[in-house]
Amino acid sequence: GSTTKLIQRNTSFATVTAEDIKHFKEILGEKNVIEDEDRLSIANVDWMNKYKGSSKLLLQPRSSDEVSRILKYCNSRRLAVVPQGGNTGLVGGSVPVFDEVIINLGSMNTIISFDEVSGILVCEAGCILENLDSFLANKGFIMPLDLGAKGSCQIGGNVSTNAGGLRFIRYGSLHGNILGVEAVLANGTVVDMLSTLCKDNTGYDLKQLFIGSEGSLGIVTKVSILTPPKLSSTNLAFLACNDFISCQKLLLEAKRKLGEVLSAFEFLDNQSMDMVLTHLEGVRNPIPPSVYNFYVLIETTGSDESYDREKLEAFLLSSMEGGLISDGVVAQDINQASSFWRIREGITEAVMKAGAVYKYDLSLPVEKMYQIVEEMRLRLGPAAKVLGYGHLGDANLHLNISTSQYDNNVFAQIEPFVYEWTFSNRGSISAEHGLGLMKANEIHYSKSPETVQLMASIKKLFDSNGILNPYKVLPHSLLPSN
Ligand code: FAD
Ligand code: MLT
Ligand code: ZN
Repeated sequence: GSTTKLIQRNTSFATVTAEDIKHFKEILGEKNVIEDEDRLSIANVDWMNKYKGSSKLLLQPRSSDEVSRILKYCNSRRLAVVPQGGNTGLVGGSVPVFDEVIINLGSMNTIISFDEVSGILVCEAGCILENLDSFLANKGFIMPLDLGAKGSCQIGGNVSTNAGGLRFIRYGSLHGNILGVEAVLANGTVVDMLSTLCKDNTGYDLKQLFIGSEGSLGIVTKVSILTPPKLSSTNLAFLACNDFISCQKLLLEAKRKLGEVLSAFEFLDNQSMDMVLTHLEGVRNPIPPSVYNFYVLIETTGSDESYDREKLEAFLLSSMEGGLISDGVVAQDINQASSFWRIREGITEAVMKAGAVYKYDLSLPVEKMYQIVEEMRLRLGPAAKVLGYGHLGDANLHLNISTSQYDNNVFAQIEPFVYEWTFSNRGSISAEHGLGLMKANEIHYSKSPETVQLMASIKKLFDSNGILNPYKVLPHSLLPSN
């Protein structure tokens, strides 16, 4: 079950000809114009193996100028394109729906500058998140975001999806950390908004439009980002709670008592733990042999080893005495800490291995967050495994429904129920993954008609022929030339 089958290819788009290929080869050189079937079959399919396009052409530009020349040509020819980074997106946004030309930014991976006083990094969009983090570690800084896909996602993809992740609770959204962007519009115009200033109130802050617009308004080619200093002491606790209300109270306590050192607050339920233990090799539950209903990871990051540790221990002791925590363990070294993180970060991979998965990424009032997981379990019965995990500190639930294979009857039980439930609780149907293809037609559950109209006007202004990432983000009826 998915929305793809309802969409028709937009007939105003051209199809790639031999003449087009010749032109692209003149711009990019032979080897960066890829028609090879094996390479295309990888680029046509998303990380979940769920969304598949049939593009015949993959372009790999090496500079903003090349991106500009490609887009200018595509726009004049009305060739639709999909910007692609690491292709780890989870909403079908990063792959073609039909035969759109794939423009992959992976070859644009230069670090342009780093200011060791301010911590401001300027780099090309194709830099892989983990590589940037390693570069910064040597300089005594870290990236303000971290996510399970760090080994392959690119900063341009992170910016374009406004990725959240594990450090959000501490460092906030990319809307705050990204200081500047260079982007290429559909008609090839290169817009230099690559500021390296923390404060700049000279009119409309247009770079914000590129943060989270999922490649629908332009291709991000460079970014400037404010990176925080790497602090010397990190602690990680893996805790068990018996009920969700205890998890919530624990969050409040952690904010009160760990305040300035709190750097992550994540949760998973017992069903998610089970999934990881069943499908990932070498993973074990750090708090055996009992089975608890919920697990919480609390990380602290600060600059004073003994002070931070004492603080965490006092917090854990009082939470234990207060009955909020049933059991728990603090990582004794970096290896143990990464084995704890592996459990939380590995859920996405584990659930993929289990068969089919329906993924929802909801913002909800924290006290309502787990209710939808329980309601979904009642609705679906034994036909499906329903998992709840996510960024509890940001009130962001990942509701995943796992079945052995895709099944339209199960799908009909899930949608539109999940969206209606979220709407009626004033939540968001996408906290961090975006709308992509999956939720383009569901935007009205989270945005008013007037807002959606204004978005469509902006889309038309930036991309009048609608060639950039068509069928994504906005409802199909509102896209240009439809
Ligand atoms: P892609 O998947 O290639 O593209 C994503 C979207 O951005 C597409 O619409 C694409 O067209 C557009 N795009 C990509 N690059 C550009 C560019 N340069 N210019 C314009 N548009 C562009 N997401 C979170 O928010 N938090 C998480 O914790 C998180 N964890 C994840 C864990 C795993 C294991 C996986 C597989 C995914 C996870 N994600 C998470 C989702 C995904 O990793 C993020 O959305 C990530 O930011 C996508 O980056 P990417 O380079 O792979 O982009
Ligand atoms: C996560 O927090 O693990 C990611 O957003 C990926 C997912 O939702 O599975
Ligand atoms: Zn997430």
